[in-house]
Amino acid sequence: MDVDLGLENTYIKHTALTYIDGNLGILRYRGYDINEVVNKLSFMETAYLMIYGEIPDYKELETFKSYVSDGILPERIFSMIDTFPNGDPLSMASSVFASLAIDNTMKWSANENKKNAGKIIGLSFNIFANIYLHIKGKDMHNIDLKDPVRALLKVTNKNNEKNAKALEAAMILYMDHEIPASTTAALVTASTLSDMLSSLSSAMNALKGPLHGGAAENAFLEFIDIGSPENVRPWFEEHIIKNKERLIGFGHRVYRTYDPRIKKFRELSLLLCDERNKRILDTALELEKVALDYFKEKRIYPNTDFFSGLLFNELGFEHWFFTSLFALSRVTGILAHIIEYNENEQRLIRPRAIYNGINERFIEK
Ligand code: ACO
Repeated sequence: MDVDLGLENTYIKHTALTYIDGNLGILRYRGYDINEVVNKLSFMETAYLMIYGEIPDYKELETFKSYVSDGILPERIFSMIDTFPNGDPLSMASSVFASLAIDNTMKWSANENKKNAGKIIGLSFNIFANIYLHIKGKDMHNIDLKDPVRALLKVTNKNNEKNAKALEAAMILYMDHEIPASTTAALVTASTLSDMLSSLSSAMNALKGPLHGGAAENAFLEFIDIGSPENVRPWFEEHIIKNKERLIGFGHRVYRTYDPRIKKFRELSLLLCDERNKRILDTALELEKVALDYFKEKRIYPNTDFFSGLLFNELGFEHWFFTSLFALSRVTGILAHIIEYNENEQRLIRPRAIYNGINERFIEK
């Protein structure tokens, strides 16, 4: 018997949510191509599609929006966030999700799961918006959940229609990606019949790791470190070729070609780039060119995180909040996966380990 390290070759569930073909660069949500989804649907319509399986009509969408609007944070959560020292927003989010689970009002129930998911999506916008306000030292408050994406953007000073559309697109692109480590952590928790909020608390802790959610921030810091397009070649030769460091924002476990989400991320980064950010964008584009040429034989391409940080920066968010924006977008996908699992094929996830320690021995005493 062999150990499947990293569960790379183990399938733990069926899914009708997200289809990925890493060789052809295809990503579909519920059968629809990701580029069609992002160009034609709103965040709310896409969230509904992921949770319910179909694009909503007007009435279905209004009902779903009313569930999301229920995601109001109780006063005790503001007091709790207020006690957090400045630090990792994902750890804060995990603590808040865990705290909201304390009164255990959301039990698993086929009649209530999707409605509760809507409410939790609303809660998540409030959680991350208020973590941002807390870290910035600003007053916390429940945001307007009628249009949560626009309300979230209000925490920066760059709230306008063009930026709101771009943030909405980014949040759709990040909404689901099958079962990476964070979704799997949520599935393990949900499989014990622990509740949805506790499952999200687990997911946040997995997502914060540098091998998973942290790449957008680190790729952006890489561009800042390089500083200018002229510095790209010497930087690349020193760090990537000579010191054999990993180029952050390049490579993917699944894709062996361009990640299909990149097209939109790149288009939006170019569209929103102003004079202040032009040097960073030009540095990133030059780095992409040099790296693509160097990695061509290994088939290593940029991943979404190469461009998403550029976009989030242009929208006015600081680099320490990039992983939070990814996590907030992913909440919907995680909820859709745990509901799909527990409603269709729930089984306690309990893998085995092969013992390789000392054989039987005795305590001499
Ligand atoms: N820079 C330099 N070399 C790389 C990179 C990279 N970014 N990615 C892969 N390689 C090389 C490896 O060194 C290895 O070379 P070798 O065969 O000569 O030893 C080969 O490509 C295969 O590497 P693996 O680690 O087996 O590839 P894997 O598919 O497991 O790695 C990963 C995927 C972890 C994402 C990797 O590409 C990486 O570390 N990238 C940088 C971090 C990053 O951008 N993470 C974001 C991932 S996407 C996301 O989470 C949304």
